[in-house]
Amino acid sequence: MSALRSRALARCPGIEDLRRLALRRLPRPVADYLDGGADDEVSLRRNRAAFARYALIPRHLVDVEHVDPSTEVLGQRVSMPLLLAPAALHKVFHSDGELGVARAAAAHGTMQFLSAMASTSLEDVARVGPEARCFQLYPRRDRGLMRAMLERVRAAGYRSICVSVDVPTGGNRERDRRAGVAMPPRLSIAGWLSVSLHPHWALGFLAGGRISMPNMFQDTGRAVRNSDVSFDPGVTWADVEWLAAEWRGPLAIKGLLSVDDARRAAAAGATAVVLSNHGGRHLDGAAAPLEVLPEVVAAVGDRVEVLIDGGIRRGTDVLKALALGARACLVGRPYLYGLAAGGQAGVD
Ligand code: FNR
Repeated sequence: MSALRSRALARCPGIEDLRRLALRRLPRPVADYLDGGADDEVSLRRNRAAFARYALIPRHLVDVEHVDPSTEVLGQRVSMPLLLAPAALHKVFHSDGELGVARAAAAHGTMQFLSAMASTSLEDVARVGPEARCFQLYPRRDRGLMRAMLERVRAAGYRSICVSVDVPTGGNRERDRRAGVAMPPRLSIAGWLSVSLHPHWALGFLAGGRISMPNMFQDTGRAVRNSDVSFDPGVTWADVEWLAAEWRGPLAIKGLLSVDDARRAAAAGATAVVLSNHGGRHLDGAAAPLEVLPEVVAAVGDRVEVLIDGGIRRGTDVLKALALGARACLVGRPYLYGLAAGGQAGVD
């Protein structure tokens, strides 16, 4: 990493500074893809606001000289209750991509959730080491495809999976649509102009080679088509129950907000639920996960690990979630800002 870049990172005391640096470094369409949400972005803002509504009441004169924040998630030990949420296409943000994120997670002893829509193969990421890792997939009705996927994930050494169930169809992200971000991308003129104004990003992007999604399908030779990355709107609980029985290992169900769904997940054999509105990227108007956390913990906290993501930007946000009963928190954009701002060192 250049000295210039590490100086810029050193001048980022908080996530908001990393965010600003990242958004400056990315062409507008990529910055919007990273930072934006669905529709009016109400849920996106609500995720942050939910944390501000809780105040901390500290208990003093407790020995905090040696604090051990480590915990267990999905049968794996992690050094802290802060995990890296699944996110698509890291190489669009920086050529270090998913491998850079995996190395940073390993260095800190925490867990990376690798997305089905990652731009690096799950086998290459697994080769970074045996650290805590979980593979995230989107469920489909095609059981042959799902079975092949599970076998591949198992063969690569992943001990847990995360099934994201909150995307029966794609979200209406109007910033992306305005810029022409689609599959395949068809950038608007303004989008191309913005790319040309960010030559540093463009050179890194070109040097990284063609970006693909090597975990979506077995036949990775061909270019990704629109139908490949579309979601399966016919999936129901029966498919997820089948998946849990077929996997027979630690499994998280991500994207739940309702107490009844959390109960259903526990009954289906899930090890964990991840309360999430997908970072406000899909169903705008959805509740903030923090708002439903206490009632979900009360209903299923004795049977499943309750994880949460959305709007977590500070250690005190993690503290609030833990105080309300969460086992651990996931972050998405914060580490992606880091990746975009300075590759692996930015994630670090
Ligand atoms: C995501 N998220 C996501 N979730 C998932 O299950 N699979 C995926 O492929 C993606 N892709 C993705 C891309 C980008 C650019 C973002 C920002 C998010 C959602 C992610 O896992 C997580 O739920 C949110 O990012 C959490 O909110 P914060 O931390 O970004 O506020």
